[in-house]
Amino acid sequence: MRNIIIDCDPGHDDVIAFLVALANQEELNILGITTVAGNQTLTKVTNNILKVQDYLGVHIPVSMGYSTPLVKELDVQPQAHGATGMDGPQIPEPHSKPTGMHAIEFMKKTLMEAEDKVTMVCIGPLTNMGLFLKTYPELREKIDCIAIMGGGINRGNTLIKAEFNIYHDPDAAKIVFDSGIKVVMAPLEVCYAASILLTETEKFAEGGKVSRFVYDLMKFYQGYAIRNGWDRTAIFDAVPVTWLIHPEFFTAEEYEVYIETDGRYCRGMTVVDTRGYKGELKNPKTVLVDADREKFIEFLFKCINKLDRIYA
Ligand code: RIB
Ligand code: CA
Repeated sequence: MRNIIIDCDPGHDDVIAFLVALANQEELNILGITTVAGNQTLTKVTNNILKVQDYLGVHIPVSMGYSTPLVKELDVQPQAHGATGMDGPQIPEPHSKPTGMHAIEFMKKTLMEAEDKVTMVCIGPLTNMGLFLKTYPELREKIDCIAIMGGGINRGNTLIKAEFNIYHDPDAAKIVFDSGIKVVMAPLEVCYAASILLTETEKFAEGGKVSRFVYDLMKFYQGYAIRNGWDRTAIFDAVPVTWLIHPEFFTAEEYEVYIETDGRYCRGMTVVDTRGYKGELKNPKTVLVDADREKFIEFLFKCINKLDRIYA
């Protein structure tokens, strides 16, 4: 059993990552969810996770974090996630409310009260995580690992060389990567390697309540892939969550990783040192470099089918 806090900006893939965690609570004890601005505004991404929980009848505490990056301006992504941040599914507006506690205060309280260490699952910009580490450095010892979706080894998405979560708040990402806490990084390459085929998505339409919700999510979300002529789409944020449960699905390497916080073309780039000087590693990150796509997708369907039975 691993205690986790999910820090997210839902976001279609954030929601699916949450569902994977929800389907595996015997391995992942979800202590709470914190939200951060990224794919959409803080209000919208918070509303989205509350909507999903209410739709399923789940009540994991949700605490709102920062509404802007540390330095940059907010740069939401309607082209990928729509005006609401979760366009597609038509589910009721939430009746539940966030805790009213700020995300970093929720992190502080939860880490102090936890008997064992906690894994931070960060699948949005790292604003909350970075500021938590700056504000409460004494609680770093209660974190066993920070598992993130973010960065790229040789490429970006939002910029040629910068992936969105790091691009959106590179200053916060630098705090996290320089913290000395174990970081497990799921960059773009491993997420693309674990992509779901557009033809595979159709199978969700044949399932129960949760499967059909995921189908509605994916029909909107994969529009971006279709517009680019791709036959598959990456469910980015589900990768680090799946790694926590099935690390054997992935290939990992230990690399030094540096965050570029300046530069006209490369601000937000993760500079991954793949030169192979193993003897000189001082603060290496566990970087996921490849995935067994079939096992990943089979597990995803297994998780959603399990939720169909639980939340019928
Ligand atoms: O680049 C992919 C990441 O950006 C994912 O976390 C997605 O949800 C968006 O936040
Ligand atoms: Ca995200």
